[in-house]
Amino acid sequence: MNRLFYADCLDVLKGSEQKQEIEDESIDLIYIDPPFNSKRNYNVLFEAVDMSDTKAQKEAFADTWSNVKYIDQLVEIQRLHLDLYKYLANLDSLDVPKSTISYLTTMALRIFYMRKKLKSTGSFYLHCDPTMSHYLKVVCDLTFNHKNFINEIVWCYTGPRKTPRAFARKHDVILFYVKTDKYKFNQITISHKSGLHDTGKVGLYGSDRDNKEIEKRDEELKKLEKKGKILEDWWIDIYPTDRVRAESLGYPTQKPESLLERIIKASSSEGDVIADFFCGCGTTIAVAQRLNRKWIGVDISHLAVRLIYNRILEPYRNNNGRYLEVKSNIEVSGFPRDIASARDLAAGGKKGRIKFQDWVIEYLLDGVSNPKKVGDGGYDGYLTLYRDEKVIDVIIVEVKSGGVTVKNIREFIYVVEHEKAVMGVFVCFENEVTKPMLHEALLAGYYDQEAFGIKYPRIQIMTIEDLLAGKTVAHPNPSMFNITFKKSR
Ligand SMILES: C[S@@+](CC[C@H](N)C(=O)[O-])C[C@H]1O[C@@H](n2cnc3c(N)ncnc32)[C@H](O)[C@@H]1O
Repeated sequence: MNRLFYADCLDVLKGSEQKQEIEDESIDLIYIDPPFNSKRNYNVLFEAVDMSDTKAQKEAFADTWSNVKYIDQLVEIQRLHLDLYKYLANLDSLDVPKSTISYLTTMALRIFYMRKKLKSTGSFYLHCDPTMSHYLKVVCDLTFNHKNFINEIVWCYTGPRKTPRAFARKHDVILFYVKTDKYKFNQITISHKSGLHDTGKVGLYGSDRDNKEIEKRDEELKKLEKKGKILEDWWIDIYPTDRVRAESLGYPTQKPESLLERIIKASSSEGDVIADFFCGCGTTIAVAQRLNRKWIGVDISHLAVRLIYNRILEPYRNNNGRYLEVKSNIEVSGFPRDIASARDLAAGGKKGRIKFQDWVIEYLLDGVSNPKKVGDGGYDGYLTLYRDEKVIDVIIVEVKSGGVTVKNIREFIYVVEHEKAVMGVFVCFENEVTKPMLHEALLAGYYDQEAFGIKYPRIQIMTIEDLLAGKTVAHPNPSMFNITFKKSR
């Protein structure tokens, strides 16, 4: 069974007293690409559309790591691995930014548990950048033992970027460690036939100058290929995803499939288990699936998990038998899958209610949750759908976990008008819907666009039951998959 978790990977790695989510020594290859502790914020997945509090939303998502309370985690590391603890605690007494120590502590704890999940033949790849790679290498040396360090891979890419008063920063670092010297490794020689560096050639973005640079690299590469060269630890033949039109999903940190293909082929065989504990939009998972590996993916964002689910199933859309087979082989954890567990989540106090809202908006509706958790008078989230090629419609969402009255609908209509949204979707459980609510919603009229003579109500009341059954918002263009997300760039 392939497994997708919506969770903090630490919770999945540790499991609970009753249940270990992932067996120790069960994984063949772990690749992770965690957020880099740069000031860029990876939780901001959307360039928000034109809404009044866009700026506030962005600010609400301030840099994750500097806010993490790391002292508790440091204490936990002291119990687990004394050397790791000493390293981090000493950094704490030096002139190293607190956000860096917070980030490293957070990572160290997770890497410690990841190592436990690896088989003795297993490999670990940590994708990072030069701002953190030196600190992270020490964390890995201590966790895996410096003798188990195999490579520091330098992935060089090209693309437009102005770096004032510096050489343009154009490489990432991938640290490669193994659990023991019994590790699996398939040597790779560079060849056009491998299809690896061909992947990015179609539909490159960028200026002519960039393309010329790429052509020059291709020439260099061809010369190497003629000699049948064993791949070295600096990779110049893989284009970043935003330059590969066919692959890009618009996820801000999406990595190219050819990069993962290379790593997976080098360090695993068919049928092996591959895990990515910060899996973003699921590049590792998609490649593992294509290369007939089993996989485990974890991400803390609802949106990422939803996106991966669609990404994995997309290639089988026209083959119903295979689609159902692949689907039935994916277990998604962390979300309610039936009404009873949805009710349980909604009834779980303030925290549960917020999780419930996020689940409805981001997972069931493919929307964006409003990070400012507001009471009545605000909105819980929004969706953006293409009306046509140029115009994007904003649809406000309100989610109620209980105690709904007709007054809520009236207030919601006011919010939709105030936010100048084209429609509003009001979500609650089926048993809460009353005739006066439906009547009030109908009085709000119809969306001004008709398609094939069909009218779309401006205020749509949808039930959790509808959404779990796969019903979508009635809109002239509802099938545009994840537009809210796709418009993020
Ligand atoms: C750099 S992105 C990974 C991109 C991925 N390699 C791809 O190709 O799409 C990092 C991801 O880590 C996730 N993340 C951050 N903290 C996490 C945590 N504690 N547990 C699991 N996922 C986390 C973020 O939601 C984000 O999707």
